[in-house]
This record gives sequence, structure tokens and C-alpha cells, in this order.
Amino acid sequence: MEISIRQIYGCTECVEIARELKEWFTDRGIERLSADVRAYETYGAYLDGKLVGFVVVKLDGRLAEILWMAVRRGYQGRGIGTALLGFVERAAKSRGCSLILVKTSGDPEYEPYIRTRRFYERRGFVKALAIDEYPEWREPMALYVKCI
Ligand SMILES: CC(C)(COP(=O)(O)OP(=O)(O)OC[C@H]1O[C@@H](n2cnc3c(N)ncnc32)[C@H](O)[C@@H]1OP(=O)(O)O)[C@@H](O)C(=O)NCCC(=O)NCCS
Repeated sequence: MEISIRQIYGCTECVEIARELKEWFTDRGIERLSADVRAYETYGAYLDGKLVGFVVVKLDGRLAEILWMAVRRGYQGRGIGTALLGFVERAAKSRGCSLILVKTSGDPEYEPYIRTRRFYERRGFVKALAIDEYPEWREPMALYVKCI
């Protein structure tokens, strides 16, 4: 399986991928994602020429924040997310970042996000903060960090 990753701009197809992942993306999330793919660096993962996943990242001095990441339904669990994460970690490090963070749902009962948090934890991220009701989302938030 040959995954290639490259930077993409104003990616509307990314929004379509997220729209199909209703367990993870609310309408409000889709709205914010639509704006963020235009405002921040976005990298797409391609398999046989098809966009199968993406990550949106904000670089700010020594800090890199993963704003959004998703792999198309039917392509999850095949190493694409791991490849995107590795790519972003290397790119951020080469540009002077030393810490990468991601905010994700902290809901302890909701299975889809339990899997998401496990994904980050297994890849070296450490939960640094948990907030029961994050004001911006009005739901639990878990903040993960990793030194790069
Ligand atoms: C989280 C996500 C980006 C990971 O990408 P992926 O390509 O499925 O992940 P990989 O194949 O590289 O890695 C698989 C690992 O992730 C875990 N995983 C998390 N969510 C998964 C899912 N929905 N399907 C399959 N595996 C998933 C598996 O348990 C596996 O763990 P292990 O290798 O440590 O045993 C992807 O599953 C996804 O798009 N999820 C929905 C959206 C989301 O949660 N985005 C992140 C919001 S912060």
C-alpha cells in the first residue's frame, strides 16, 4: 500500500470526508473545519490517487496544534492516520516546533472518541488536561500533548 502525503489548499473534499463521519463531526464542527482548511496548513493522504485522509495543523512558534484529522470511512485502521501524524510531527519539528498538541472529545462513554483517544495515546500523546465542559464546545474536552 503506497500512501503519499502532500499539502493541499482550501480542500472542500476534506469537508466531504468529515461530513460522512457523523459519529465524530457535528454540523458546527463541519462549519469550523470549512473555515480552518482555508486558514491553516492542510495535508492530504492519497492512496492510488484518491484522497483518503487529511490533517489540518496550526504552527505557532514552538507549538504545533492538530486542529482536525480524519481518515475516510472504509480506509480507517490501515495506517493512514499514523502516516499523517508522523508526517506532521516531522514537518513541525523541522520548522522549530518542540511540542504538538491536540484537543479532542473527552467524553468517557462515547465509543467513537474512546478509539480516537486510544489512537493518540498509543502514538505517544499524554493527556495533559481534561475539562468536563469546555466552554467553546459545551462538552468534555481532553487535551493531549507530545514532545517532538
Ligand atoms: C483517528 C483516525 C484519524 C486514525 O486514523 P486511522 O488511519 O484509522 O489509524 P491507523 O490505521 O493509522 O491506526 C489504527 C489505530 O487507531 C485506532 N483507531 C482509532 N480509531 C479508529 C477507527 N475509527 N478505525 C480503526 N482504528 C481506529 C486503532 O485501534 C489502531 O490502534 P493500534 O494500531 O494502536 O492498535 C481515524 O480513525 C479517524 O478518522 N477517526 C474518526 C475521526 C477522528 O477521530 N479524528 C480525530 C479527531 S481529534
